[in-house]
Amino acid sequence: MKRERVVLAYSGGLDTSVAIHWLREKYGLDVVAVCVDLGQGRELKEVERKAWKLGCVDVTVEDAREVFCDEFVSAAIRANALYEGQYPLSTALARPLIARCCVLAARRVKAGFVAHGSTGKGNDQVRFDVSFASLAPDLKVIAPVREWDMTRGKEIEYAKKHGIPVPVDIDRPYSADMNLWGKSTECGVLEDPWRAPPRDAYDWVRPVEDAPDRPESIEINFKQGVPCGLNGKPVKLINIIEKLNALGAKHGVGFVDMMENRLVGIKSRETYEAPGATIIITAHRDIESLTLTRDLHHFKRIAEERFSELIYDGLWYTQLREALDAFFRRSQRDVEGTVRVRLFKGRCLVVGRKSGRSLYDEGLATYDAGDVFDHSAAAGFIHVWGLPHATVSRVERKRRKKG
Ligand code: ARG
Repeated sequence: MKRERVVLAYSGGLDTSVAIHWLREKYGLDVVAVCVDLGQGRELKEVERKAWKLGCVDVTVEDAREVFCDEFVSAAIRANALYEGQYPLSTALARPLIARCCVLAARRVKAGFVAHGSTGKGNDQVRFDVSFASLAPDLKVIAPVREWDMTRGKEIEYAKKHGIPVPVDIDRPYSADMNLWGKSTECGVLEDPWRAPPRDAYDWVRPVEDAPDRPESIEINFKQGVPCGLNGKPVKLINIIEKLNALGAKHGVGFVDMMENRLVGIKSRETYEAPGATIIITAHRDIESLTLTRDLHHFKRIAEERFSELIYDGLWYTQLREALDAFFRRSQRDVEGTVRVRLFKGRCLVVGRKSGRSLYDEGLATYDAGDVFDHSAAAGFIHVWGLPHATVSRVERKRRKKG
C-alpha cells in the first residue's frame, strides 16, 4: 500500500534531520523535504544531498530569495517594520514564505501532512502553524521537536543510533537563524541579560572597536518607498541588501541587543545582526520625512507599530495584514529620491536627502532673505489654535471665584 506523505520544511540542521527519521518511524509517513533558500548562506546543494541520503522520497530546493525581497522584505521596508522598535523581523518574515513553499509542495506531491522543526517555546511554531492554517486548513501539521520531548543529548544519541550525521559544530554556544534580512542569535551565555555579548556573538557585524577609522558614505535611491539603486545606479533590491549588509557590517552597524517579549509569554534576550536592514530603514524614514505630509507621516507610525507586531505574531496571511499593506503602498506613492548616509563606528547617520517630490520649501523655511512665509498670518492661527485652552482657563477661574 502507498504510504501517506508529509512535506517537511528542511533546513539541513540536526533537528530537521532527526525529524526525517522520526516522522517515518513514529508516523509511518514518507517524507518530502523542502529546502528554501532565503540567503541564509548555507550550501543548499549539500543540504539537498543530505535530505536524499536520510531517506526522503522527494527533495526540492527552492531559491526564494527574490520573492522574499520583493514580496516580504519590501512590505517591511514600506512599513519601517521593527518589532519593539528594534528587531527588523528577519525570521518572522521568512516563516510565512517557507510555509507557502511547503503548502505548494504538499499539493504537488499530494501530501496530507506538513511538518516544521520549531520548538514549543518560540514564536516560529506559531508562525508556521498559523500560516499553514490560513493557506491550507485541510493539511495536518506535525511539529516533531515540540512533540518528541528529547533533550539535546538524547537527540544526539538518537541521531548516532540511526546513522544521522551530527554536525561538527553541534556544541556551538548559540542558537541562530539567518537570511538576507538579518541574523538572530540566542541561548548560551546570552541568557544572562546582564552579560555583554561576547565577541563570538558577533558573526556578521564587526565589533565597533574593530571598525575602520574612516567613515564611508553611500547614497541610496528610493522609488515608491523601496530602494531601487545605489549611488545613482539601478540595482536590484536583493543586491542592495547584500551590498549594505557587507558595508554596514564592516563599520559595525546593525548589531542589536534587546530584551524581547515573545508571543508565548516569555521574555528573552536576543541579539540580532542586520546591517542592511538598519541602513535601509534609517534612510527610508528620512526620505519619508521629506516627502510625506505631517499627518500622513504621524498616522503611519501608529500603523507601523501594529504591522510589526502582526508580523511578529505570525499573522502574515490575514485580512489585517493585507489591509495595512494596501495603506502602506498608497502612502509610498511619492516616497522617492536619494538619501546619503555616513557609516562610522557603529553608527548610520543620514547626512543628506533630496527628492523630486520633496515637500520642503526653502522659501517657507528660510530665516534669511527670500522668506515668503506670511508671519502676520501666524498670530491669528495661533490665537484660534490656543482658543480652547484659553477658554478652559477662563471658565475655571470664574468657577473658583464663585466657589
Ligand atoms: N526571536 C526572534 C523571532 O522570534 C528570532 C527567532 C529565531 N529563530 C530560531 N529558530 N532560532 O523572530
